[in-house]
Amino acid sequence: MQVVHTAADLRTALAGQTGTAFVPTMGNLHAGHISLVELAKQSGQPVVASIFVNPLQFGAGEDFERYPRTLQADCDKLAAAGCDWVFAPDVAEMYPVPQRFTVQPPDSLANDLCGAFRPGHFSGVATVVLKLFNLVQPRVAVFGSKDFQQLFVIRELVRQFNLPIEIVAGATLRDADGLALSSRNAYLGASERIQAPALHRELATVAAAVQAGEHALEALAASAARRLKMAGWRVDYVALRDATTLLAPTPDSTRLVVLGAAWLGNTRLIDNIEMAWSNPA
Ligand code: PAF
Repeated sequence: MQVVHTAADLRTALAGQTGTAFVPTMGNLHAGHISLVELAKQSGQPVVASIFVNPLQFGAGEDFERYPRTLQADCDKLAAAGCDWVFAPDVAEMYPVPQRFTVQPPDSLANDLCGAFRPGHFSGVATVVLKLFNLVQPRVAVFGSKDFQQLFVIRELVRQFNLPIEIVAGATLRDADGLALSSRNAYLGASERIQAPALHRELATVAAAVQAGEHALEALAASAARRLKMAGWRVDYVALRDATTLLAPTPDSTRLVVLGAAWLGNTRLIDNIEMAWSNPA
């Protein structure tokens, strides 16, 4: 596996490749990321991973500075997983001049759900992903489903800018108690770690009720949020949406997703569960 840090070295390394499968990451890799590399390998293309903690997608007061940087350990894991190249630029390499041309997802997407609590976040994600796509020029790109809204934004980016890239979604990996694997789980203290699976449990309760035919969708989401608050969480949102549009479900919806974002102490966790739905109305 070759590790490169500049756009020029990346171009040289990938010269002559007719197609690659790309796994963009911010590093601090866990088994969930490695499962994305395995999915990328299944495409039959050589695999490029990127490691870049993107300042553009962090708001003031968020965890950009303390986000764990673990390049050597990450490269060891990627090599063991059979990754072919790692692109690990620094901020000056990715943003040699202030990034004044940015991708602005539509307000209805950028300022909804996580975007309502993280202004500018999805513009930062879409901008860096477009830059990474231009640098790597992959045929396939793999993203985790835990970041459901991010995956949705990237699919729209690819569709609306006609990018010739197939987006593949990797399933969320979980610890035995249901907690979705996330680099941010490392921030949890011991007692918070014990509480943390409650987010997934509450979303699973909502999903089970929906599938059992309960149709008071807003009330279901509101009671999950209430239970989390009573257990000491600061809840950003729990919402049930059409999984294909991310909008409120309509009589025509056939797949729903329940999404949640909530804080335990200083750690913000997100999770979601997708489900089939037949509208009982
Ligand atoms: O999901 C992530 O790790 C990041 O948001 C991404 C897609 C690598 C862009 O910085």
